[in-house]
Amino acid sequence: MAAFLQTNITLDSIKIVPGRYSSLTDRAPYRIRCAAASPVKKRYNIALLPGDGIGPEVISVAKNVLQKAGFLQGLEFDFQEMPFGGAALDLVGVPLPEETSTAAKQSDAVLLGAIGGYKWDKNEKHLRPEMGLLHLRRDLKVFANLRPATVLPQLVDASTLKKEVAQGVDMMIVRELIGGIYFGEPRGITINENGEEVGVNTEIYAAHEIDRIARVAFETARKRRGKLCSVDKANVLDASILWRKRVTALASEYPDVELSHMYVDNAAMQLIRYPKQFDTIVTNNIFGDILSDEASMITGSIGMLPSASLGASGPGLFEPIHGSAPDIAGQDKANPLATILSAAMLLKYGLGEETAAKRIEDAVLDALNKGFRTGDIYSPGNKLVGCKEMGEEVLKSLDSKVPATV
Ligand code: IPM
Ligand code: MG
Repeated sequence: MAAFLQTNITLDSIKIVPGRYSSLTDRAPYRIRCAAASPVKKRYNIALLPGDGIGPEVISVAKNVLQKAGFLQGLEFDFQEMPFGGAALDLVGVPLPEETSTAAKQSDAVLLGAIGGYKWDKNEKHLRPEMGLLHLRRDLKVFANLRPATVLPQLVDASTLKKEVAQGVDMMIVRELIGGIYFGEPRGITINENGEEVGVNTEIYAAHEIDRIARVAFETARKRRGKLCSVDKANVLDASILWRKRVTALASEYPDVELSHMYVDNAAMQLIRYPKQFDTIVTNNIFGDILSDEASMITGSIGMLPSASLGASGPGLFEPIHGSAPDIAGQDKANPLATILSAAMLLKYGLGEETAAKRIEDAVLDALNKGFRTGDIYSPGNKLVGCKEMGEEVLKSLDSKVPATV
């Protein structure tokens, strides 16, 4: 079972009910299960990869929230916690042990904390925690990375942009995740004919890789405000020229979606100048990496943003977009909301359990409405809490909120 495209329901047959999805993680591009309530308890296997730094703290909080939201919705989870990243390097000498990759592949969904830290920064490239993450994405074949960036009214003051610029921003970045310069060959550091060291990476996209991510993006835009902006560097890069050609060719299949194109340097500027112009953005691996960090800052804190990585079949990978923040690790200062919202995305996009997902999103909003804030989103007049207490508050709100319907 698991990720969103592995379903008997064809994409075209999926009915979307406008106006019923307003949420932090946005509308699911594809719905998997029927809404009819089932008396049978459903069980899911979840692989938990806490990783490094604040990863274990935020995962332990998010796990409790996931468990409770599931319980309230008649779902049961079997969690399997596996070593990953620096933690795995310390334990067995590699960032992605075979057992971890296998457990992830055999699960229904993977919830990941964060990886990396000063300790492993000087490791050889193949022994860096980041390599584990890239290999996990590749092993799970999760080519579509959905990164929502929504400015919540409760947190508009946390944005570094002026209130009138940040207010109302609600976009989804669809990043290609297992291709392009991150994985392209040739790559490496070699010696050229002059005996000089040269570093090489290759930006390469085959037509089918562009088509499949573009389709996810068109579907996503269709269920949002119907606007898709494809970001490339087609004035310079051949891979981008093909990208633009393929995306443009697909547009006729989605007449309800308004497609535009933008060069990446302009997109970086427009995100700061007038971010409300964006609804759905689709872009390659490296531009998506950069632009999603930029977009996250519009929302006030990278500590708020979840992500979903999905493939054509098999489990999806769900992770906050922030890093392992080694400077605050172990101090109960981390904001667990991005991971909690990643658990909501896991329910919605990974398992098709939209009602349970909505419970979590509502509970997060409720905790924020009550004024609870971790340090990264704190402003005077609110209640400063640590990672655990924020988790407790979300759990309390799960209990008190009337179940949302989708
Ligand atoms: C991200 C991160 C990763 C990436 C790193 C940690 C490999 O920056 O998920 O955005 O570059 O994809
Ligand atoms: Mg990044």
